[in-house]
Amino acid sequence: MSVMVVWASPNVEGLTAAAKDRIVEGITRAGGTAESLHLCRQKLQSCQACADGWGPCRQEGRCVLEDDFAEIYDRLIAAQGIVFVTPVYWHDVAERLKCLLDRLRRCETGSGRLAGKPCLLVACAGGTGNGAISCLQNMEKVAGHMKMSCMDRLPVIRFNEAYMLPALVGAGEAFAKKIEQQ
Ligand SMILES: Cc1cc2nc3c(=O)[nH]c(=O)nc-3n(C[C@H](O)[C@H](O)[C@H](O)COP(=O)(O)O)c2cc1C
Repeated sequence: MSVMVVWASPNVEGLTAAAKDRIVEGITRAGGTAESLHLCRQKLQSCQACADGWGPCRQEGRCVLEDDFAEIYDRLIAAQGIVFVTPVYWHDVAERLKCLLDRLRRCETGSGRLAGKPCLLVACAGGTGNGAISCLQNMEKVAGHMKMSCMDRLPVIRFNEAYMLPALVGAGEAFAKKIEQQ
C-alpha cells in the first residue's frame, strides 16, 4: 500500500519537515510505503485561469501548463492515500501547496480521479499558532471540492509540538491501517 506525503516548506529542517518525517515513520510502521514529495523542489506554475476561466481542466481533467503538474497528478492518482503537510502562512496553506491544490481542484472537476481518495491534513505553525485552524479548514474545503475522504486534520504549533510530533507517528500508522482495511 502506498501513500504520497506531499509537503510544502522550504525549510528542510523545520517543523513541517519534522511533521512529514513522523507521518512517514508511522506509515512505514504500519507496513505501508510512504513516498515523500517536496513541492518546493517541483516546477509548478500558478493556474492562469485560461480561455474564458475554464481551460481543458473542466472537460478533460488536464492542465495546459507545461511543468511537473501532470506527473504529480498521475502519482497522486496512483497512490492509495495522500497526506498534505503545509506550513501555515498568513493563516492559510503555503503558496506551493495552494498552487498545486488550485490546479488539482480544477482538473478534478473534469475527471474526479481523486474522488473518494483518503487524505490526512497537517498544518504546521510557528509563534502563536494563530491561523493553524483556518489553514486546515481551507485545505479541508478544497479536499471537499475534490470529494476526497478526509480522515483527520491536525494542527502542529510551537506549544504542542512536544506531544504532537510523536502523535503524528500514530496518525500516519492509523491512516495507513485504515487504507489497508478499505
Ligand atoms: C510568510 C509567512 C507567514 C506566516 N504566517 C503565519 C501565521 O499566519 N500564523 C502562524 O502561526 N505562523 C505563521 N508563520 C510562521 C510559520 O508557520 C512557522 O515558521 C512554521 O514553523 C513554518 O514551518 P517550517 O518550520 O517548516 O518553516 C508564517 C511564516 C511565514 C514565512
